[in-house]
Amino acid sequence: MTALLTAEAVTRRYGSLTAVDRVTLRITEGERHALIGPNGAGKTTLLDLIGGATRVDAGRIGFAGRDVTRLGPARRARIGIGRIHQRPAVWPSLTALENVEVAAWRRVGGLRGVATPGRFRGRLREPALALLDRVGLTEVATSAAGHLSHGQRRQLEIAMALAGEPRLLLLDEPAAGLSSVEVQRLVTLLSNLSREVSVLLVEHRLDLVYTLADTVTVLHDGRHVATGGPAEIRDSPEVRRAYAEAVR
Ligand SMILES: Nc1ncnc2c1ncn2[C@@H]1O[C@H](COP(=O)(O)OP(=O)(O)OP(=O)(O)O)[C@@H](O)[C@H]1O
Ligand SMILES: [Mg+2]
Repeated sequence: MTALLTAEAVTRRYGSLTAVDRVTLRITEGERHALIGPNGAGKTTLLDLIGGATRVDAGRIGFAGRDVTRLGPARRARIGIGRIHQRPAVWPSLTALENVEVAAWRRVGGLRGVATPGRFRGRLREPALALLDRVGLTEVATSAAGHLSHGQRRQLEIAMALAGEPRLLLLDEPAAGLSSVEVQRLVTLLSNLSREVSVLLVEHRLDLVYTLADTVTVLHDGRHVATGGPAEIRDSPEVRRAYAEAVR
């Protein structure tokens, strides 16, 4: 299988703390790869390194056959790395629909697209509405994003990321703060996502991880502990030890 993303021995330090310590990760085309580990393991930092929000101190990141280690987050987004954050990032004064349209304008027209929305808007409205429908937000399409619940903002951020037509979707705890109905909708959405999109999912809810992931990587204290299929990871003594240490 072709590798879409390769992170090779990536390291990120904050002062004397090594948040991510020589981690190597490979995601193939279409794969659903979950990243788990106790609080502070370095999961969000690793997503930041892959998305380009944070620069590596050492190591290399390759995406779709090119070295992206030195590219900023906007360039990485344009070549297909989409991201949702641990805290949903939406434009609060725009409606839900406008948020998705802005995300799509960026893809079709870059900043020019945002500055001259009239040229693009007609083409983008229908796909944006379809995306809102997929994440269950049709009824609040014309509400300001700032007035949506936490769960709805999280769903909106997923619709925005999908509007960018990513080849790799980075999801940081998408189920956090969602109601059980919203979690079910999220699972359906991710299960039905085209295999043209690869997914790197950070999630504390292991039931979701074992349902959705083809491969699971475990981090602990910034280090790689194990990578394997869900069953293998669930039964791994090494993984149990990493979690047990964290709760002690
Ligand atoms: N900007 C920063 N400045 C200083 N330390 C940071 C910074 N970002 C992360 N850290 C530290 O790096 C370590 C890894 O943090 P990170 O947020 O990546 O963990 P995580 O696995 O996502 O945890 P959680 O499950 O709680 O979200 C933690 O010890 C954290 O305090
Ligand atoms: Mg985190």
